[in-house]
Amino acid sequence: MGRRRRKPLPQEPIDATIESLAHDGKGIAHNEEGKVVFISGALPGEQIRYKMTGRRRSFDSGEVVEVVTASEDRVEPPCPHFHGCGGCSLQQMAPQAQIAFKQQSLLDNFERLGKVTPETVLPPLSDIDHGYRRKARLGVRYVPKKGGALVGFREKSSGYLTVMDSCRVLVPAVGERIAALRALISDLEQCNKIAQIEVACDDTQCVLVFRNLEPLPEGDLEKLDLFGKEHQLNIYLQPKGPDTVAPLNASHETTLSYRLESFDLRYQFLPTDFTQVNAGINQKMVPMAVELLELSAEDKVLDLFCGLGNFTLPVARQAGQVVGVEGDEALVQRARDNAALNEISNAEFYAVDLQDEEMGGVWLNSRYNKVLLDPPRSGALEIVQKMKKINPERIVYVSCNPATLARDADELVNNQGYRLISAGAMDMFPHTAHVESIALFVK
Ligand SMILES: C[S@@+](CC[C@H](N)C(=O)[O-])C[C@H]1O[C@@H](n2cnc3c(N)ncnc32)[C@H](O)[C@@H]1O
Repeated sequence: MGRRRRKPLPQEPIDATIESLAHDGKGIAHNEEGKVVFISGALPGEQIRYKMTGRRRSFDSGEVVEVVTASEDRVEPPCPHFHGCGGCSLQQMAPQAQIAFKQQSLLDNFERLGKVTPETVLPPLSDIDHGYRRKARLGVRYVPKKGGALVGFREKSSGYLTVMDSCRVLVPAVGERIAALRALISDLEQCNKIAQIEVACDDTQCVLVFRNLEPLPEGDLEKLDLFGKEHQLNIYLQPKGPDTVAPLNASHETTLSYRLESFDLRYQFLPTDFTQVNAGINQKMVPMAVELLELSAEDKVLDLFCGLGNFTLPVARQAGQVVGVEGDEALVQRARDNAALNEISNAEFYAVDLQDEEMGGVWLNSRYNKVLLDPPRSGALEIVQKMKKINPERIVYVSCNPATLARDADELVNNQGYRLISAGAMDMFPHTAHVESIALFVK
């Protein structure tokens, strides 16, 4: 039996009225047959014309080609690559409207998935909306018919890399050097053997980790060395797995570090370590989390998914004792080293898989009266279920995914009797649809 031919997508623009924004930042409309259409580049309330880009059984996709009646939140996207590049999805929306949308998205998730409502909505945390991104993985591909090497993010509507010369959300030291990076890679003998560049910046400097699929010849190493020196970027290579990341030569070796001024703390980290993407928001988020914990010297605090101790060390400054738990052994070591670097002796750390229902250990048998959680996007249901046994009086939950936060809030509030005292969004990732948030639960 032959394969059924797909009906070609209509080419002519279609009129639509945008009803609301989906959680990924796309506008939601219904077509003439009542089928849902997700349209990138559109804002609620707008009359637009869109081009269809995809068709599925239960929904269509499209992108705006003309705004007929604009929302008052519409602004000119500040980046010339916004329409094609998939790195950002909300640049057509004023920054204050973006964070209001994220705040609403958080509340909708609580209501829909968690069947909970915060007693107080915290004012959203905001900071700069450009040049904020300190961590990124830039795709690299050598495509001669597109003018040589491409460096950057994938396109909105395909898996291909965007042709771009700059990025407005990356820290300027890197974001303003995309064109220079493209020229550098195009000029390498092994130009088609660089798979990606990992960006990691601290308060003053940046490391670029080039993932080289083959050993690079001497001439290429010299070009990378010169590029790094000319642009004051520290170049590392990664010939194989993450353990092989190393400086190009001794002159590029760098100790990355950031400070949390309000706690007089300094953290050292490696380029591939998890660190919070947005330093400005981190400087505000950590004090906020510590304040919500209402710490005193009598407190024993459990910091779950602690990473390199970003929250653990500030908590240690004000609590009697803190235990940090994290799945990545290397980060646990970094957390211990950072505690020592800051002469903190009331913090201890354990490497544990917190998504393993069988998890255990001495740390879990201790008594804690306060808990801080900062899990990955998948959330923290396994350890949240253990709050029945740990029984803390106060839980501060930092989340990068409102859907899993809402699910875990359902467990805490509707099964374990906590009150959701307050919650609010934080603008960790301006111009993207990612929602970072914080919530306080009290028993
Ligand atoms: C959002 S980060 C937060 C890190 C840290 N709190 C900070 O502010 O830098 C989530 C952390 O969870 C850790 N993680 C992911 N899955 C885990 C698991 N199954 N068990 C324990 N830790 C995990 C990651 O390694 C990462 O450090």
